[in-house]
Amino acid sequence: MLNIQDVHVNYGHVHALRGISLTVPKGKIVSLLGGNGAGKSTTLKTISRLIQPKKGLIEVEGKSMLKVNSSQIVKSGIIHCPENRRVFPLFTVQENLQIGAITRRNKHVKKDLERVYHYFPRLKERIHQKAGTLSGGEQQMLAIGRSLMGDPKLLLLDEPSLGIAPILVKEIFEIIKRINKEGTSILLVEQNANMALDISDYSYVLENGCIALEGKSKELKENDEVRRLYLGG
Ligand SMILES: Nc1ncnc2c1ncn2[C@@H]1O[C@H](COP(=O)(O)OP(=O)(O)OP(=O)(O)O)[C@@H](O)[C@H]1O
Ligand SMILES: [Mg+2]
Repeated sequence: MLNIQDVHVNYGHVHALRGISLTVPKGKIVSLLGGNGAGKSTTLKTISRLIQPKKGLIEVEGKSMLKVNSSQIVKSGIIHCPENRRVFPLFTVQENLQIGAITRRNKHVKKDLERVYHYFPRLKERIHQKAGTLSGGEQQMLAIGRSLMGDPKLLLLDEPSLGIAPILVKEIFEIIKRINKEGTSILLVEQNANMALDISDYSYVLENGCIALEGKSKELKENDEVRRLYLGG
């Protein structure tokens, strides 16, 4: 589905990505772990072309995606659900979801709206509520729902668990699993390594803009170094 090789990104003098290579096979969940400032969000922004790489290869379903802009990336089926759940606070839940459908490739908006409400009954109960008055966890659900309205083949999720109570995190991760089972490939950025390793097939660990470790999530979970550094023992 997605293949990136030797991608470099600079912010002025800051060399934020120093030759990242990773792949997301079709139908899989791949997680990207690492501490603050490691370059996780930068990697997602580079894929969705909010920022331009200085060098490297980005392919989607075998086609080079280096000379395209962010709206062409969206058209190719890659939808980015950014950090800090950026919902439109003055618009209602339903309006936020409709905004997510603007860029989509086909017309099954109504069906997908039903699908989002099916995944997130809490959103259905709050259809006419202004998004800015939702709780943090509900806003995260809305951000994911809005991304689904773009009909993604590949969903880029940036820290869906950030600042959310454990019980809601569990609910959100269950839904991420279901979204994947129904056919969407997922690249999941997380600091909550335990949860991410549990639901993903394969994982990469980023450190200082480089891939420090990678492997099957199950195996990484047993890895002593990973346990010590990222799983609290
Ligand atoms: N717009 C920017 N201008 C300058 N430097 C930036 C910019 N965005 C990010 N950086 C730097 O690039 C590095 C990687 O940042 P990035 O946001 O990708 O980290 P992250 O792994 O997502 O961290 P976090 O877990 O805190 O979200 C950091 O050192 C950060 O300060
Ligand atoms: Mg980040």
